[in-house]
Amino acid sequence: MVKNRLIQNHIDSGLLHTHSFINGQWLDTGMDTLTVYSPIDQQPLINLSQVSESQITSAIESSVKAQQKWKKTPANSRREKLKKWLALIEKHKDDLAQIISLENGKPVSEALVEIDYGASYIDWFADQAIRIKGDILVNQNNQQIWLNKQAVGVVYAITPWNFPNAMITRKVAPALAAGCSIILKPSELTPLSAIALTTLADKAGIDPGVITLLISNHAEQVSQQIMADKRVRKVSFTGSTRVGKLLCQQAAKTMKRTSMELGGNAPFIVCDDADLDLAVDAAIAAKFRNAGQACVAANRFYLSQTIATTFTEKLVQKLKDLFENKTEQSLIIGPMITEQAKTKVLSWIEAAIAQGAKKVYTAKCRNDGQYLAPTVINNISSEMALFQNEIFAPVIAITHFDKLSDVIAQANNTDAGLAAYCFSQNLETITLLNNELEYGMVAINQGSLSNAIAPFGGIKDSGLGREGSDYGLDEYLDLKYTNLVI
Ligand code: SIN
Repeated sequence: MVKNRLIQNHIDSGLLHTHSFINGQWLDTGMDTLTVYSPIDQQPLINLSQVSESQITSAIESSVKAQQKWKKTPANSRREKLKKWLALIEKHKDDLAQIISLENGKPVSEALVEIDYGASYIDWFADQAIRIKGDILVNQNNQQIWLNKQAVGVVYAITPWNFPNAMITRKVAPALAAGCSIILKPSELTPLSAIALTTLADKAGIDPGVITLLISNHAEQVSQQIMADKRVRKVSFTGSTRVGKLLCQQAAKTMKRTSMELGGNAPFIVCDDADLDLAVDAAIAAKFRNAGQACVAANRFYLSQTIATTFTEKLVQKLKDLFENKTEQSLIIGPMITEQAKTKVLSWIEAAIAQGAKKVYTAKCRNDGQYLAPTVINNISSEMALFQNEIFAPVIAITHFDKLSDVIAQANNTDAGLAAYCFSQNLETITLLNNELEYGMVAINQGSLSNAIAPFGGIKDSGLGREGSDYGLDEYLDLKYTNLVI
């Protein structure tokens, strides 16, 4: 059944393996199969075979061996191989976008943006491979202190379904640039992008064992086995805070380094002196990317009382222009990843309305199956589930504020600390918000934060470590200090 549906979409069959990739080989396991469904129509796309316990053992062994060689591969050659991978991704961009769209549901136009975003990490980290540098300090006795950065070793990377391409390149590229090997476990909901990217990495000449791909929907068992192995020196995870905390507990047993990119609950604050047209455009960018299913998605909208009505009217008008009267081809918003995801958000909306919130807009567009039409809810209060949880759906939840000090306190009143968005034309207001908001990333007068040269990451329950930038590269490097007397 399987390949047909993908091939019907004219996807290059060379990108469609059905097994795990270990030590440079696509291995059939004969194990039970994992069926991947498309959230667009809930129909099966492909059956994959799942990795076995003994294959995970050999995967770790081959990763250890490959890393010993890869770390000694000249940085320039690591750079070139990453650039070849990048060129192949660019060549197969349309196929890769189709794959993302089928398995994740986002429209192809949006999937193409993800490919560029993902590719930008490879491009940037490939160049940084030749710029990893040390330092020499001199101590009080005139002794030299040498500082060297060395690859951490074998990395275990667990990637999510919401950006099935870019979240892989954001981990694999810095790991390989630093001289690490990587064992990749993509979400069982979207493993096809991982398969296609791994195929292209292999074609690019990245050595066997440097990238390992494990296909399984037994995430817990796979992780337990890998996390218990002391030869695996780091875990990098993007996903829920609950799983991130479990992984940190497991990592403690063998003292693995951890990078945790976890959930958010981003405030979107519009002050009375904000440029409202700009803020509306930014709200749409920050909320509707991937149908709201992004950890940096704007979650709680705080509008100054004085501009709340005008902002909401402008927002609703813009949503009508964007989402209504679209043909299937010009749809710009995809479905929820699962039926449960949609049901959960609908129950939060229902509860909020029962508690006094008001639905001010539902777009007249697809709302069937796993699609959820963009919705705006006003008069939200802090005890409502819609405000306390990461919505992860195209739903804008609005409340109002009078005083800046109040909105700062409310915005910080959450365990999350990933991203915050603020809109004001006043430098003093902006400075205050930037200083007081307890978040790893703050966007001022714009709706986007994601960029390969910026350190992406959060504080508090939103995680540990950074991805992107030299700070992101340092996550894959150990600092060695040598005290030298000559
Ligand atoms: C995420 O949602 O996990 C990442 C979003 C991004 O990179 O912008």
